[in-house]
Amino acid sequence: MYAATRALFTQARLRPLALSVVVPTYNERANVEPLLERLDAALLGIEWEAIFVDDGSSDGTAELVASLAIEQRHIRLIRRVGRRGLSSAVVEGMLASVAPVLGVIDADLQHDEAILPALYRAVADEGCDLAIGTRYAAGGSTGDWAAARARLSGTATRLTTRLLRTDVSDPMSGFFVIRREALMASVPHLSTMGYKILLDIIASAPAPLTVRELPYTFRARTAGESKLDAAILLESALLLFDKLFGRWIPLRFAMFVGVGALGVGVHLIALGLLVGGAGLRFTTAQAGASIVAMTGNFILNNRFTYRDRRLSGLGFVRGLISFYLVCGLGMIANVGIGAMIYGSDHRWWVAGLIGAAIGSVWNYALSSALTWKRA
Ligand code: GDD
Ligand code: MN
Repeated sequence: MYAATRALFTQARLRPLALSVVVPTYNERANVEPLLERLDAALLGIEWEAIFVDDGSSDGTAELVASLAIEQRHIRLIRRVGRRGLSSAVVEGMLASVAPVLGVIDADLQHDEAILPALYRAVADEGCDLAIGTRYAAGGSTGDWAAARARLSGTATRLTTRLLRTDVSDPMSGFFVIRREALMASVPHLSTMGYKILLDIIASAPAPLTVRELPYTFRARTAGESKLDAAILLESALLLFDKLFGRWIPLRFAMFVGVGALGVGVHLIALGLLVGGAGLRFTTAQAGASIVAMTGNFILNNRFTYRDRRLSGLGFVRGLISFYLVCGLGMIANVGIGAMIYGSDHRWWVAGLIGAAIGSVWNYALSSALTWKRA
């Protein structure tokens, strides 16, 4: 009995690994077993493994995967602690694989695993670099999506396609199979921001990829909930910006300017309230509005612009103080220049705007060198 089992195992081990399927998960416990059953059925005859990449789900997803993986050696688990992000999870899963062909599928059963073998064959047997499950090619559909979401998604896709000069009909897809070498060529240039890993891979490829698209119908989620939120949409927009203009304008600078523009708005609102509402003297109000705007800018820059060097705890307090100090001189200039202009031109918002703009330039130059300096 034992010898027979062992022989079986040895035989199984003699067949080389053909395909790794990366499954990013965040709170998908109820979907794990149904997904594995479907993959088992769909991938019969292909030597495959599943690599779950879990970002600290609180619903026990990782524990469930671990308990399955201990019995079934074709299931693997990567746990990431203190990190979130679909794109980076997918990349990490792929980099942990040694298979010649790599696939990605969502855990929530919205992607139709039945086309996975065809995607695999397009890459493994038919020489494609990349095979994409698409919701837009003939035969594919977004299922019973709300019309508004479908329209928005379609428009975003057409825009991206035009901007990135790819003729892929669903560059936003999260369901695809790729040849290892094709992935590896893109990896050094990836942004790994947000949700759009496929778009990132295509846009980062040093040479054009041979692509096959296979239609499927995007299913409705039955368990768990979507993790798509405003912050992720913003990250997608930033990814697009980075791919389009990153060569000329560093993303960080663009973000700082964006936050600065918001800060100017905050500054003007605060100033209006302090002058108009509270009836403070202009100079006092301008100083107060500067503090409000600076604090807001610090929080936003810390959260987005410098999220890779994000300050927290004591570092956050220290950073805020240094940000105030760095901007202190800028604020003196800001208030001084604002007051000077206000003396000759009594429109408070003109004076405030010019003062704040000068302050912002100063803030950028010094804060990137001092407040968020590289460790
Ligand atoms: N590890 C990890 N970390 N996984 C995550 C994270 C994260 O921060 N956020 C989401 N996931 C996992 C979810 O658990 C799920 O398995 C999968 O990524 C997709 O998340 P959803 O929140 O369900 O995304 P969606 O349905 O709105 O969009 C998906 O399908 C679209 C169509 O193919 C994504 O794959 C999109 O990128 C894709 O455009
Ligand atoms: Mn989903």
